[in-house]
Amino acid sequence: MNQLKLEGKVALVTGGARGLGRGYALHLAKLGADIAIIDRNLKAAEVYEFERNQMTAPTVMEECEALGRRTIGLEVDLTDRNATETAIAQIAGKLGRIDIAVCNAGGGTVTFADEREAEPGANDQTDLVTTGTPSDCAEEMLTRVLDINLRTCMYTCMAVAPYMKRQRSGKIVTVSSTAGVDARGRYHPYGTAKAAIIHYTRALAQELGPYNINVNAIAPGVIRTGRLGDRSHLAETIPLRREGTIEDCAKVVEFLATDMSDYVTGRTIIIDGGMLR
Ligand SMILES: NC(=O)c1ccc[n+]([C@@H]2O[C@H](COP(=O)([O-])OP(=O)(O)OC[C@H]3O[C@@H](n4cnc5c(N)ncnc54)[C@H](O)[C@@H]3O)[C@@H](O)[C@H]2O)c1
Repeated sequence: MNQLKLEGKVALVTGGARGLGRGYALHLAKLGADIAIIDRNLKAAEVYEFERNQMTAPTVMEECEALGRRTIGLEVDLTDRNATETAIAQIAGKLGRIDIAVCNAGGGTVTFADEREAEPGANDQTDLVTTGTPSDCAEEMLTRVLDINLRTCMYTCMAVAPYMKRQRSGKIVTVSSTAGVDARGRYHPYGTAKAAIIHYTRALAQELGPYNINVNAIAPGVIRTGRLGDRSHLAETIPLRREGTIEDCAKVVEFLATDMSDYVTGRTIIIDGGMLR
């Protein structure tokens, strides 16, 4: 009988309630891992039609359970360091260990649809205006984008590290972006946060390598999710002539979360169909 690659392992996926994070959770569950999801809104998939239509159960946790895995979901804002530590302690308590952490929670300069109730009609892509320029970026934008991308990632890594160190094993996957590699475009606060994640990943890999913990980043390009909508018009600018899919990214996460990447650490894998030159 073929044993599943990740049977007996526990994988944490932050921002796993929709989009790419949901894809990573389901992919790792199919490989046999038990799944912990932390998200600021565990029903975040309801917000965008693209994701709502794909759901096969009310929540991603129930989708993973249907695959035969133990799961836990915690609704936590990962910009709160203490709450992050508490959530990860709860996960380790319930599932016994933490082998894999995919630090996927994050987002761009456009507020999430489920944040918009307070200001109806705000920002259907229009808040690019508030992004400003690198020499003149509004404080609110800076705080938001650095917090939801960089701080959430660092707090998650810092909270899982003690468990992985004790286990003397672990796989941490951080999530950057092509925007963190390339400085073109109007997303400079986002690019700055995602570039910092690449640096942090390398620094953390140096520290945790002696504990047999691998730390690597992925940098997706144009990937179709509900939040970003249809950007197939960009296909002509991409050598592989198509937008990326959630599964394209999940397969790279599989590589970084399994023994296939045992001698890879501190690196960033760009998943962009060759878009960056
Ligand atoms: N979609 C793309 O093309 C693309 C490209 C490059 C990088 N990325 C990165 O991939 C990740 C996922 O992107 P997506 O398109 O699936 O976005 P998404 O908005 O669909 O998913 C992000 C999830 O993170 C959660 N989240 C956000 N802030 C949080 C916080 N403070 N605490 C807890 N949970 C929080 C959201 O609720 C949501 O469920 C992000 O880090 C994003 O920057 C995406």
